[in-house]
Amino acid sequence: MTEWPGRVEIREVGPRDGLQNEAPVPVEARIRLIDALARTGLRRIEAAAFVSPAAIPPMAGSEQVMAGIDRQPGVVYSALVPNARGAELAIAARADELELVVSASETHNQKNVRRSVAESLIGAHDVIELAHGAGIEAEAIVSTAFGCPYEGDIAPERVAQLAGHLLDAGADRLSFGDTTGMATPRRVHDLLDALDRAGFGAARVGLHFHDTRGTALANVVTAIERGVTRFDASVGGLGGCPYAPGASGNAVTEDLVHMCHDMGIETGIDLDALIGCAQLAREIVGRELPSALLHAGPRTRVYS
Ligand code: COA
Ligand code: ZN
Repeated sequence: MTEWPGRVEIREVGPRDGLQNEAPVPVEARIRLIDALARTGLRRIEAAAFVSPAAIPPMAGSEQVMAGIDRQPGVVYSALVPNARGAELAIAARADELELVVSASETHNQKNVRRSVAESLIGAHDVIELAHGAGIEAEAIVSTAFGCPYEGDIAPERVAQLAGHLLDAGADRLSFGDTTGMATPRRVHDLLDALDRAGFGAARVGLHFHDTRGTALANVVTAIERGVTRFDASVGGLGGCPYAPGASGNAVTEDLVHMCHDMGIETGIDLDALIGCAQLAREIVGRELPSALLHAGPRTRVYS
């Protein structure tokens, strides 16, 4: 039988990647969700994004979110930033870590941050310098790493090359995002192979899947079997597009935690408390969420 690692690290991205793709919710509700998540044993929470409020209205008010949360010792509250302006705002708001996003796809990068990939790479140096100057770490996230909604396939070699540039710029770690849910286990193998060839082993890789086409957990298991132990997920599966009823968001945190625990892989997360957070997330967005656990309950539930 395959050897699984004893532990994986799950970063909760619902308050950012999830809520960014929902109709805007009040700052107070965002704070309530983050504070509940911080009491489940999660050690990393992507709490906010310092981006143009015109580009991403649900992330307006991120300063107030960061100011209002009840910070738990040992929990890292990170913020996504697209540029140096975002980095300055995130640092002023006392983010514990920055996540800098660059797309592997030229078209997606242009649409997302209105810059070429080359321009974003130049900006990456500034963001990383600002983070390090403030004594915090900067993670580089390569988005559209498994395919692009505009360009289709993205060569894994191109993704690996961009990753190398970001490490050269001083990024403390890397994540690879499946921005619109195009990854399958075959694509996970292809990217990890290319990263291996470029000298970036599984220990330096974090993965971020969306369940748009139902493949998120299959992708995670594939990556676990290749030695990857860092994954993003979103409570309840927050993140369906407000304009596409029924659309799925990120890999669902509680479904992932439940699966890992049954495989004997620790997460440090209290599953019941997490399901409570998924109920809160459902209340906050006022719609049913894709979470399987919200509907089925954990395997340990016994019916009489
Ligand atoms: N946060 C808040 N405001 C910002 C900002 C940031 N990170 N970066 C720039 N701005 C402001 C500028 O100060 C300027 O304001 P002004 O008009 O009052 O002077 C205005 O936005 C335009 O600045 P500019 O540098 O020309 O930005 P742009 O219009 O080319 O937009 C981004 C570029 C990167 C700011 C915008 O595309 C963006 O926020 N994208 C993020 C997308 C995202 O979050 N995607 C999902 C995550 S992958
Ligand atoms: Zn995402």
